[in-house]
Amino acid sequence: MSSLRNQDLQAALDDAIARYVRQSPKSKALHDEAVKSLPGGNTRAVLHTDPFPLCVRSGSGYMVTSEDEQNLVNFTGEFTAALYGHSHPVIQGAVRHVLENVGMNVSATTSQEQLFAKGICQRFGVEQVRFTNSGTEANLQALAAARHFTKKRKIVVFGGGYHGSFLGFAGGKPAANNVDVDDWVVVKYNDLDCTARAIRSEGVAAVLVEGMQGAGGCICGTPEFLTCIQETASEAGVLFILDEVMTSRMSANGLAGAQGLNPDLKTFGKWLGGGVAFGAFGGRADIMSAFDPRFPRALPHSGTFNNNTLAMHLGYAGLTKIYTPDVANEFTARGGQFLSRLNQVTEGTKLCFTGCGTVMNAHFPVDGSSVITNAADVTEVQQLKDLFWFEMLESGFWIARRGLVALILETPQAELDRFVSCVEGFISRNKAFVALDQTR
Ligand SMILES: Cc1ncc(COP(=O)(O)O)c(C=O)c1O
Repeated sequence: MSSLRNQDLQAALDDAIARYVRQSPKSKALHDEAVKSLPGGNTRAVLHTDPFPLCVRSGSGYMVTSEDEQNLVNFTGEFTAALYGHSHPVIQGAVRHVLENVGMNVSATTSQEQLFAKGICQRFGVEQVRFTNSGTEANLQALAAARHFTKKRKIVVFGGGYHGSFLGFAGGKPAANNVDVDDWVVVKYNDLDCTARAIRSEGVAAVLVEGMQGAGGCICGTPEFLTCIQETASEAGVLFILDEVMTSRMSANGLAGAQGLNPDLKTFGKWLGGGVAFGAFGGRADIMSAFDPRFPRALPHSGTFNNNTLAMHLGYAGLTKIYTPDVANEFTARGGQFLSRLNQVTEGTKLCFTGCGTVMNAHFPVDGSSVITNAADVTEVQQLKDLFWFEMLESGFWIARRGLVALILETPQAELDRFVSCVEGFISRNKAFVALDQTR
């Protein structure tokens, strides 16, 4: 981009930021107060935005309301966890049932956890499952199981991958807070040769992969790549762990079902908890039996809230009464159509959307490429990405600052149509900035 155009883009962004600051005085005041007791005013780094984050007061249905009285369509969808929105009547009924008839913190096994476990096993084709409090924990436990089962240590993972708070691989290396720093073999996502070589190398216990890298920007694994992982791992005696924390909502049986994959272990989280903290991991019974406490050498697996009554009831109600297999397939197809329309209206510009079904991410690659197979290959025009976020917010859409859109089930088609129009409006207002460079 020429330096003159770059200056104009910065000026447009500065204007958008100034409008945001003017429209959000209460959020600013709350942030100024929050920094006194929370580092950076925040307890979830992903929610920080400059110059200060918008503070949300409440949510209802598919909408949220900011402290500054702005009503927004929640397109962030709690990074895929808010599938049921903010006040789904079935979830509200389940909450009431727990509070009125079951109680919280019963300190015992319950028949409800069996029901929920059976539901998950049947739906996602796993033989046995255990519950945790987060997707992070689910992945840590799955890795422990794989190491125990294979008696090996190394884990093959992928650059741009994210498997939880201590399990990030942005930039192709373990994040500074990563656990077991020495035991990772980090490979380029969608690179078949390097992946096969890494899986066959000495001392590998498991390969842990997202079928679509969510935090990495909704980059989809190609069917060849995922099949290569499955086949190579099986030949090499390495366990194949599919992280379905984000992708289990993509089709009736998750991404594995849609792509015909049969991993040894799967991990779950997000929406499956019905709106409260949740995680689960499961798969082959011979691997999961490591956690059977009837055996003296069982792997310890505890967690005060693993079977908390709220998650067990809300999750089960959502899985069986709301997001039934038919609904999952229909919703995923609806998301796919929306994603295609977005890519139609952005064709020939620097804006493109990647993703699968109802989960997608806006990108502004510097080189204007619209096919992205690896997070590391994309350098984005950050100012454009920021401008897009501010402009969508002004149009009433709450998307994640990194460009993620994760649809809530009850979002009306009219709002999806309106978003497509707003994206068209963004392109026509910012033609000079989103135009592909002729020198390409
Ligand atoms: C693919 C994937 N795995 C694991 C996690 C971690 O889940 P949690 O935030 O519940 O720990 C996430 C969260 O974003 C995720 O996207």
